[in-house]
Amino acid sequence: MSKNICFIDGLEGVLKYREVDIKELVELPYDAVSYLLIRGELPGEQELAEYSARLHAERGINREVLDIIRMCNFNIDAMEALRTVICFISQFDPDLNDSSPEGNMRKAIRLIAIVPTIVATYYRMANGKEPLPPDPSLSHGANFLHMIKGSKPDPLDAEVMEKDFILSAEHELNASTFSSRVTASTMSDLYSAVVSGLCTLKGPLHGGARAEVMTMLNEVASPENAEKFVLGKIAQKEKIMGFGHRVYKTYDPRGAIFKQLAKKLAESRGDMHWYATAEAIENVVIRELVEKRGKPIYPNVDFYSGVIYKYMEIPPQLATSIFAIGRISGWIAHCFDQYDRKKIIRPRAFMLDEC
Ligand SMILES: CC(C)(COP(=O)(O)OP(=O)(O)OC[C@H]1O[C@@H](n2cnc3c(N)ncnc32)[C@H](O)[C@@H]1OP(=O)(O)O)[C@@H](O)C(=O)NCCC(=O)NCCS
Repeated sequence: MSKNICFIDGLEGVLKYREVDIKELVELPYDAVSYLLIRGELPGEQELAEYSARLHAERGINREVLDIIRMCNFNIDAMEALRTVICFISQFDPDLNDSSPEGNMRKAIRLIAIVPTIVATYYRMANGKEPLPPDPSLSHGANFLHMIKGSKPDPLDAEVMEKDFILSAEHELNASTFSSRVTASTMSDLYSAVVSGLCTLKGPLHGGARAEVMTMLNEVASPENAEKFVLGKIAQKEKIMGFGHRVYKTYDPRGAIFKQLAKKLAESRGDMHWYATAEAIENVVIRELVEKRGKPIYPNVDFYSGVIYKYMEIPPQLATSIFAIGRISGWIAHCFDQYDRKKIIRPRAFMLDEC
């Protein structure tokens, strides 16, 4: 693959997937961004139509998968069910051990297409509702909302969901992508590499931070409590979820877009409560950590996305799996790159001190 999968300038707050700025990418459909990531170039109109049609055709799940989901524990995070089901379905993929570029592309399309359906089906069953089949006329974001809510989504909600998937799709060698790459570097199959990514994403210092942000918003409850809450966390030397980043030492560009989307949702609902609570937390964090202590701790991708889920009435149990729905295209892009390299990743133990 010729172009770099991802470029981040952590000091200037720049993020590009394959040389296209994230501000341009969020205006595209998720399918186009997914195509860009796994194939290396933006699709033309015809290519996008064909790619979307292939994704839409692979969205459905069969009776066996429904039975497996039915056997899951419905009191836990959807990530557990997602990991279990991906492990289960890999055995039945006719291309499981076809590691040719064509075989890998067929698996990639099946995986990207089916993950939202697994998450939505689990969610509906966990809430005592009949699972809904995917709607091939809807975009990736709109279809997911339709499958969890049971009705055609409001256009703004669908737009926000689509942008969420795009903003979550890729971020260079973050922990879960690194995991996926390590698995792919052994020439293990794509399902195994995706499961590695899922297992790593769920931790609270990575994708799990989104759910923690939602819990924190509930705890803070209103803008007036933000000051006391943040000062308490700092005094206890505890991390404030949704803030800070290993690479960004300025505002995370994804966090800035999520903030705009959160404001738009709040205004559209005529209810600024959660947005104002989040902004109050942000203001105290920036005053205390950035301005007074000189630490570059700004909202990251997980902070205002947590606010969005409050408005869209998406529960914390789904937050990390929504991240996974977006990120799977990035994992796969990295796995393809790793397969081309045909070289195992094997760091030495002393390198852990650098992490
Ligand atoms: C993302 C994260 C893991 C990056 O970690 P890191 O690069 O290893 O940075 P460190 O944990 O070494 O933190 C560096 C300093 O900033 C402080 N810091 C970092 N994130 C902080 C946060 N969210 N709240 C308060 N202080 C924070 C640390 O306490 C540390 O201070 P010190 O130098 O006085 O000890 C970290 O910022 C974090 O845990 N954030 C909260 C979880 C989160 O939102 N994760 C999603 C990431 S996209």
